[in-house]
Amino acid sequence: MKSNSKKTFTGAMVYDGGKFRPRDFSIDGGIVASFDKNDDSVEKIDAKGLYIFPGFADVHVHFREPGFSYKETIKTGSMAAARGGYTAVCAMPNLNPVPDDEKSILAEVEIIQRDAKIHVYPYGAITRGQHGKRLADMYGMAPYAVAFSDDGHGVQSDEMMEKAMITAKKLGKVIAAHCEDERYVNGGVINDGRYAKKHGLPGINTISEWGQISRDVGLLDKTGAAYHVCHVSTATSVGVIRRGKNEGYDITCETAPHYLLKNEMMLEDDGRFKMNPPIRSEEDRKALIEGILDGTIDMIATDHAPHTKEEKSKGLLGSLMGVSGLEAAFPTLYTGLVRTGIITLERLTELMCTAPRKRFGLPPINLEVGENADFTIIDLDRKFTIHGDDFLSMGKVTVFEGEEVYGKVVYTAVGGRTAYDEGVL
Ligand code: DOR
Repeated sequence: MKSNSKKTFTGAMVYDGGKFRPRDFSIDGGIVASFDKNDDSVEKIDAKGLYIFPGFADVHVHFREPGFSYKETIKTGSMAAARGGYTAVCAMPNLNPVPDDEKSILAEVEIIQRDAKIHVYPYGAITRGQHGKRLADMYGMAPYAVAFSDDGHGVQSDEMMEKAMITAKKLGKVIAAHCEDERYVNGGVINDGRYAKKHGLPGINTISEWGQISRDVGLLDKTGAAYHVCHVSTATSVGVIRRGKNEGYDITCETAPHYLLKNEMMLEDDGRFKMNPPIRSEEDRKALIEGILDGTIDMIATDHAPHTKEEKSKGLLGSLMGVSGLEAAFPTLYTGLVRTGIITLERLTELMCTAPRKRFGLPPINLEVGENADFTIIDLDRKFTIHGDDFLSMGKVTVFEGEEVYGKVVYTAVGGRTAYDEGVL
């Protein structure tokens, strides 16, 4: 594609007013535009058979910078995001230094401003150093933090979580909770279920997750905070969140592709199946699908958590927890949930774009004239095989290695500027 600032993509299906419709899609610089068909100054790009989506938003990624740039950087992470069709992500604070006050979050913001290829919004930590003992300087971070999270760790102290909720409420921010009660982790490396028993591996009981969600819902009754549950993986968690929503609390939640598409009996003794929370039972997976269908689960995030190949090479026992997620999310979800008729393409768009933006206060995207041109173009019919080695992310390890999928992202633009171009247009 040339670098002409006036372009019309012709013959595409465009997400417009909540539905995909056949329509030409024009941009002028960073803005969605409309041109006369005979205007020769406009570059015409044949996009027949392709789908134009508003840019996806992932509220849960680990970009590892500052502190762990041997695993990923803001530059490589955001390139991977663009290749996955994302134009906005929220980056978790398990960094070094942990963004837990104004100075430390500004150090991260500076790298974002310098290197990010898409919109990257940093989380501020809930507790100092994510140690769970003292509240972070949430006031100092508020102008820069998209929300607050201690992701990577559960907040063990009830008192600390209550204080955090009260402060976040005053600041008008969401608490995004990694729910993990350490009393029930027991050195577990995978789900405490059939696979763990069969192979004699230490398991993480589901109560470690849903127990802490229950505690937090109780605290919502006291604090009235806006609360979001990260990476929901268990059936009981879905039930607790459903009840909390029905009772009127301000709760949302996310799950990730691997929890929706895999169960523990699909595991192999390979680090690519190891993450926290772990892949659970088939009953849990089905309950998550149910949660997607009835709206209990609001959005799908990736929990993109890149590690080096070496760190992931030690099987289920010895590998670090976390997998690369951004470049496999859309095709695996499209293939597993949309092509199978479980959800519509529109619902997937809501889960990957509209809902996360709304909950976290990110700018909404409407692909209408005068609006910001953040979009991604996808060839839904294109079949390909997922290989972590093809990823732009430095994290090459994926649960979906070797799987045949449909739905290839061919182009992503942020503010009309190319963020990813596969070179086929
Ligand atoms: O699998 C995970 N990896 N879960 C987390 O909560 C943290 C993440 C990481 O930072 O590697």
